[in-house]
Amino acid sequence: MTTVQYNPFTITAQADPYPQYHQLREADPVHWSELMSLWVLSRYQDVEFVLRDARFSADRRSSDNPLVKRAEEMQDRRLPFANATTMLGADPPEHTRLRGLVSTAFTPRSVEAMRPRIQEIVDELLDAAQDDEPFDLIERLAYPLPVIVIAELLGVPPEHRADFKRWSNDLVATLGGPMVTPDVIERSRVSGLEMAEYFRGVIAERRKQPEDDLISRMIAAEERGEVLSEDELLATCMLLLAAGNETTTNLIGNGMLALLRNPDQLQKLQNDPSLIDSAVEEMLRFDGPVQATARVASEQIEVGGRTVEQGQILFALLGAANRDPAVFAEPDTLDITREDNRHLAFGHGLHFCLGAPLARIEAQITFRALLDWRPNPRLATDEPEWTGNFILRGLKSLPLAF
Ligand code: HEM
Repeated sequence: MTTVQYNPFTITAQADPYPQYHQLREADPVHWSELMSLWVLSRYQDVEFVLRDARFSADRRSSDNPLVKRAEEMQDRRLPFANATTMLGADPPEHTRLRGLVSTAFTPRSVEAMRPRIQEIVDELLDAAQDDEPFDLIERLAYPLPVIVIAELLGVPPEHRADFKRWSNDLVATLGGPMVTPDVIERSRVSGLEMAEYFRGVIAERRKQPEDDLISRMIAAEERGEVLSEDELLATCMLLLAAGNETTTNLIGNGMLALLRNPDQLQKLQNDPSLIDSAVEEMLRFDGPVQATARVASEQIEVGGRTVEQGQILFALLGAANRDPAVFAEPDTLDITREDNRHLAFGHGLHFCLGAPLARIEAQITFRALLDWRPNPRLATDEPEWTGNFILRGLKSLPLAF
């Protein structure tokens, strides 16, 4: 019997979850959490196995976890997510169909074509912050950038960006899992309904008058055959908006904090901007925006020597896998020149992040522009404040001085 516990809810774990991940991995790598009634995986090999093997379902509703069941019962039936699955929670063949409908918009080639526009947005945001001292990287750049980019891609007017951000933040706040407080659930319900209402209006307009945007292309696919129901169309719009926002904000914020705490690496990147691609991969590995995801065992299966019963949830700690010394030499060291960096920050297998090429390009452009804009940034606070969400890990603000 082991005494190690998984508790991500303490202030210490929020500021730095990695020591706890190491303890778990060493003492009890396939750990049954009484607190959450699920298995917690912290080894790279187990996380990768569970994300790759088709016997683990992405449909969380198929689990018998009491907390998931309760959340399911509390869900407002008017929300599109209550009536339609998204690719994130679907297994093949639904997953194949839903992902296939939007996947071409997110290929590295499609996203590369957006580079000049993304550069322009970043330059405009930096111009607007010219006189800031200190300069809050989150507020001025990391927060607005992804919402502007995804809104333009979907084809929704810029005047609703502030609503978008609020809706998407409220939706992903419930990712805190079964432990989230009732007011968070209530805000997410209200925002979900508002967001659905808004997208219903846009979809109706685009049906009458299609434009050259992703929503119009999805509608065309829906009208060509019974490939996509209206609720699925709605749920997909909402997923795209929510999935790419806070995650990208947090990649930029967590990545910058990592550089500031490792000045030699910051200097290296400043001296050689061609290191930007591998630097962003290392930021994703070192302190990724998505710390965990979940799967449900569809039958009884052995995982790392433990017997997992059908219906039980496996909570795969991506953040722990990415610090596993069995795979990464000196895992707690930030090394922006790290080679063969097979991190799991974007997941693995069928559900590998659809938006990864977009997130990568947004981060690469941001870091290059920022270091050009004003070199030698330093942290203008002793201890930056975390949002407190243990799944989507990120900062509330990151004030910089130069
Ligand atoms: C740094 C930023 C990002 C990170 C770290 C990230 C991380 C992830 C992870 C870990 C998954 C897999 C979840 C699972 O297996 O259960 C995922 C899936 C997904 N991501 Fe991202 N993401 C990011 C940005 C984006 C962006 C910009 C978009 C779109 C605009 C996006 C859209 C999606 C979608 C649609 C899925 C579901 C894919 C599927 O189920 O097949 N993500 N993401």
